Amino acid sequence: MQTDSSFTFVLFGGTGDLSMRKILPALFEAHRAGGMLADSGKIVAVARHATDRGEYIEWVNKHVKPHVSKNGVDEAAWASFLERIEFVNIDLGKAEDFVHLRDAIQDLPGIRVFYLATGPSLFVPICHALASVGLNVNSRIVLEKPLGYDLKSSNAINDAVGEIFAEEQIYRIDHYLGKEPVQNLLALRFGNALFEPLWRREWVESIQITIAEELGVEARGDFYDNTGALRDMVQNHLLQLLSIVAMEPPHSMDSDSVRDEKLRVLRALKPIDPRDIGKVAVRGQYHAGVIRGTAVPAYATEPGVKPDSRTETFVALKVEIENWRWAGVPFFLRTGKRLADRVAEIVVNFRAVPHSALGASALRAGANRLVIRLQPNETIRLYCLAKQPGEGMNLASVHLDLAFDQFFREGQMEAYQRLLLDVINGRLALFVRRDEQEAAWRWVEPILNEWKASNKPPKPYASGTWGPAASSAMLAQHGTCWLEEEN
Ligand code: BG6
Repeated sequence: MQTDSSFTFVLFGGTGDLSMRKILPALFEAHRAGGMLADSGKIVAVARHATDRGEYIEWVNKHVKPHVSKNGVDEAAWASFLERIEFVNIDLGKAEDFVHLRDAIQDLPGIRVFYLATGPSLFVPICHALASVGLNVNSRIVLEKPLGYDLKSSNAINDAVGEIFAEEQIYRIDHYLGKEPVQNLLALRFGNALFEPLWRREWVESIQITIAEELGVEARGDFYDNTGALRDMVQNHLLQLLSIVAMEPPHSMDSDSVRDEKLRVLRALKPIDPRDIGKVAVRGQYHAGVIRGTAVPAYATEPGVKPDSRTETFVALKVEIENWRWAGVPFFLRTGKRLADRVAEIVVNFRAVPHSALGASALRAGANRLVIRLQPNETIRLYCLAKQPGEGMNLASVHLDLAFDQFFREGQMEAYQRLLLDVINGRLALFVRRDEQEAAWRWVEPILNEWKASNKPPKPYASGTWGPAASSAMLAQHGTCWLEEEN
């Protein structure tokens, strides 16, 4: 990907965790790869925890360098990367300080990208301050999640930002959309005629989408305790994955064609009836346990978490989509922290043969299934039945595997790298449009409200397990189980 489009990438929250772990390493990778970033492109960090450029560069060397290039840093590339970096020290709370930012960047060529890697409470003040010094033209703005706490607060932010920036200037990040395997899901579905006829209620019995983590809340207890898994993972990443799995084929891959189709899915989600919540939603919280031989503490004892916290660290949901393609097909979504494994995968369970001329073994579980593993180790695995060698007609489950790293033997591009390049180059397809975000909040909100109203504590689960037993029971009611429970 060659580019000659110049840019000024202004990074608010330049000394924050996200800048350190994701944004600056991603920009470095794009720089190191060569040809992805215009030579004249500049990165202007805005932060308060450094006084001048020298101090900021010191911080970058100390804190960002350890996060780049796992296989060792290319020192020459690192040195030339640092030359791209400028620094402006302003107080984000003081609109008058933005004059210094304008003075620092107004003569730089190309599009301006303002990346708000700050808390959401600063989004609106920063936008106003940018407009007050005329920086909202020839520019794009990138908003990190969480964008609001519920529909109302997310609308308030979107309304305020929308008064200053047009929708085409606003890039709402959901980093799952930048992951290579998620791109591949689009390729699998819309590049192959093979699956499309089967991708519907007549042939699909159920679909599971899991994003499981081994990590706990780490240093984010404060934030997480006011957020919970439904807001942190379901409202965005899981519903985005669901919309890609279930969407109709778009007419083209341009940004609005793809986003229109995803939106249709989000709008077709069957609203959750509060009276059914116990049947279709499970919330859990991790207790102490053991993960890969190491004892880990309970959520309620993590730093920043209230000891009597009722915040969920696990959610499992049964979701239905009210349209012709999917009516009646349950989609089971699940996410949690401190689970038994780190895995993100989509399991499409196809229906068994309608009549088995080959005996009962042709109806056994473990066949007629497509498993798309997004991480770790991206693979696509198609389970079928085959005859076991030898006498008689006994069938066994076998699988066809595509392991992407073996096939392509090239490193994958990190999600943030892809997304940042898309912002710089003005490609909106992998960013969440306002109406998608609203539809997702609208669907999620009754669950949040019902959980709050009922005031029940989340169900406990031991760290290192797959969540509360109620999650398995929910699937059992539909005659199925989570993938790892088979055998
Ligand atoms: C973030 C959540 O959006 O996604 C985190 O805020 C979570 O809580 C993370 O750990 C998971 O992302 P990934 O890419 O590690 O699967």
